[in-house]
Amino acid sequence: MRVEEIRNICVLGCGNMGSQIALNAAIHGFRVWNMDVKEEMVDKARAFTEEYLPGRVRKGRLTQEQAEAAAANISYTTDLEEAARGADFVIEAVPEKLDLKRRVFRELDRICPPEAVLATNSSFIVSSRLADVTGRPERVCNMHFFNPALVMELVEVVQGPHTSDETARLTMELARKMGKTPVLLKKEVYGFLVNRILAALMKEALWLADMGVARVEDIDTAVTKGLGHPMGPYRLMDLTGIDLHYDIAMERYRETGDPAERPSPLVVEKVVKGEFGRKTGKGWYEYGS
Ligand code: 3HC
Repeated sequence: MRVEEIRNICVLGCGNMGSQIALNAAIHGFRVWNMDVKEEMVDKARAFTEEYLPGRVRKGRLTQEQAEAAAANISYTTDLEEAARGADFVIEAVPEKLDLKRRVFRELDRICPPEAVLATNSSFIVSSRLADVTGRPERVCNMHFFNPALVMELVEVVQGPHTSDETARLTMELARKMGKTPVLLKKEVYGFLVNRILAALMKEALWLADMGVARVEDIDTAVTKGLGHPMGPYRLMDLTGIDLHYDIAMERYRETGDPAERPSPLVVEKVVKGEFGRKTGKGWYEYGS
């Protein structure tokens, strides 16, 4: 398939990542279905789009015509068949649970046209753990966006041993057509590039707070003012979700059995309290409603 033949994109999951990936694709001229099993997530994603597009026009980032075209390009549904049956390319962004993703990929393989590519936006599940439930492993890969997906330019494309060169090339080209800068990983490695580097930073930041060396706010200030990062590790965790950070650490601990991989006590406390970050209005910082 050539990238010009990709017209219809299906994005599964209307959470933070899925909704912004879908909207980004719609802004770049693709016809998009954004699907979630939860009605309230669909409503939230639709409401975000309805607020975001006029905001871009007011800020002069999009013309009225571009915003209207983007709005016309995107549809929302809770019906997987409706979202996936005409897809040329699928980007899965459902919660980071392996069993769930395997179920979704099996269904996608049944519903989607045989030439469609099935990509996962997972932060850490490599696509070889999903490809085997499909009859098209050569068309399965990782296509990993960063939060907030409408803003962050990078996309990591990970070519598993099962992924064809054509699929990797096509996914790289699609990322470019979505206004992103893709990088290709030719081996499946845990955490890919960015999350491996970020994990090292987060681990150190969490240790410093756990040991009472400095307040969370001061650690963030040290990283923004001392290293020039746009936000410190704690603010970033609030943006990406403390629950996601916890899930990744637990998965890593389960895989390696290494106690050093367990989530830090402060992270466990936040998760127990349901303080996941921006999405719950409180994490390391307070955000109100
Ligand atoms: N959604 C959509 N757009 C957003 C946004 C959001 N949540 N937050 C900010 N923006 C947009 C604004 O509209 C603005 O756009 P404009 O300049 O075109 O009008 C632009 O981003 C800058 O916003 P602000 O001026 O309000 O704020 P900042 O300059 O502080 O930028 C930020 C906010 C882009 C989030 C910046 O702080 C940043 O780059 N932070 C680091 C983010 C990061 O590291 N992400 C990677 C996380 S790791 C990851 O995603 C891996 C995954 O596996 C979990």
